[in-house]
Amino acid sequence: MARNDTAEGAPAGRGQWGTRAGFILAAAGSAVGLGNVWKFPYVAGDNGGAVFLVVYLAIVFTVGVSVMLAEFVIGRAGERNPVGAFKRLGGGAWPTAGYIGVAAGIIILSFYSVVAGWTLAYVVKSATGLLAAPDAASYGARFAAFSSEPVEPLLWHALFMAFTVAIVLRGVKRGIEFSCVVLLPMLFVLLAVLAVRAVTLPGAVSGVEFYLAPDFSKLTPGIVLAALGQAFFSLSLGMGAMITYGSYLPHRVNLPGSVLWITGFDTLAAFVAGLVVLPAVFAFSLDPAAGPGLVFITLPAVFAQMPAGEVFAVLFFVLLAIAALTSSVSLLEVGVAYFVDERGMPRRTAAIAVGAFCFLAGIPASLSLGAWKDVTLFGKGILDLMDYAASNVMLPLGAIAIVAFVGWRMGGRALAEASGNGAHPFAWAGAWRFVCRYVAPIAVAWILIGGLGLRG
Ligand code: PHE
Repeated sequence: MARNDTAEGAPAGRGQWGTRAGFILAAAGSAVGLGNVWKFPYVAGDNGGAVFLVVYLAIVFTVGVSVMLAEFVIGRAGERNPVGAFKRLGGGAWPTAGYIGVAAGIIILSFYSVVAGWTLAYVVKSATGLLAAPDAASYGARFAAFSSEPVEPLLWHALFMAFTVAIVLRGVKRGIEFSCVVLLPMLFVLLAVLAVRAVTLPGAVSGVEFYLAPDFSKLTPGIVLAALGQAFFSLSLGMGAMITYGSYLPHRVNLPGSVLWITGFDTLAAFVAGLVVLPAVFAFSLDPAAGPGLVFITLPAVFAQMPAGEVFAVLFFVLLAIAALTSSVSLLEVGVAYFVDERGMPRRTAAIAVGAFCFLAGIPASLSLGAWKDVTLFGKGILDLMDYAASNVMLPLGAIAIVAFVGWRMGGRALAEASGNGAHPFAWAGAWRFVCRYVAPIAVAWILIGGLGLRG
């Protein structure tokens, strides 16, 4: 196919990453976010701790890395948003997968921004006396009081969404790359310091055991589905975020190597976040299954036990908010790239319109911790339900389509694209192909059917 390339091998007229390191950091910025620090510990706590961790790791390093590489390949070969890339490379019914992805991104961004808003609020609260609470239990009461307020969380949600839109407006490279280069490594260091504090708290040992000593008799299909959904959510897979980022990629970048870096980075961040939160939960006799508020209850209690705790707390919540921002930007970018590429909308209009829509769609998620607490379906509140539908159903469906497309439809072209026509080392080429063709579609479908309770 004739490509309209510029001198650097880049397609003309679309944004481009500055450097390979810039791309890896941007993709890692998409992956590392609330999924690691907010969601991973409470989902692990809710699903048996160590058993969940083992299943999670197994999924990440088989299915996860394969889906990520498949997304980069589709994006770089298709040079479009997910819908456009599938249209261009496959046609037929394939673009449906892209539409599922765009929809999933919009749902996720809606509640993601609500939680990111809590993070912003906690920056201010940490600086203004939050840590003076008498005991760990009262942090639970503080969080409940704040999150059930009708208006205040919505203001933070609006502010966070405005930041996200502002970055996406400026375009991929200028907006996204910069924030990832310095700030992510800082978040990492801070998490490591916190982990040291948490595991040395009196009583933390039972939490370490809960997190690291698996009891496989507790394994259920629901836990496996939770791990699958969490893996896709945390690695930003199944909805085309990585297809979109791959589409801004020059053809000379080594994809398989990048995938391993990004996955390793993301997994380490989640693992360390679990090592902060779960031991602390046990040390303070809190409930590991406390749900979405878990980090906002546990971490302040940890900070209160540290010298200069307030300084650490403010810094931590600032960094977490920025990590969330580098993820929310990639969520918004998928929808925006779709409206720009496929509907010819100006970037500005698309960013504002999709951002405004997601703000509105996030309102019920926010209220579901307060006024609308009793609105439930299948025993889940609105925020949980949005998360469950997007992460545990839509992302797996999208992922099946992505690996099947690469394994069966693209054929040899996929391998050539992944290895840069053989320019890059790709020792796991054969394994990748096998996983894309057989292991991932079958395993993901099987987990989905079992976890949703559709089997027997
Ligand atoms: N991976 C991000 C996080 O862990 C969330 C995300 C999901 C971003 C899907 C993009 C796509 O916070």
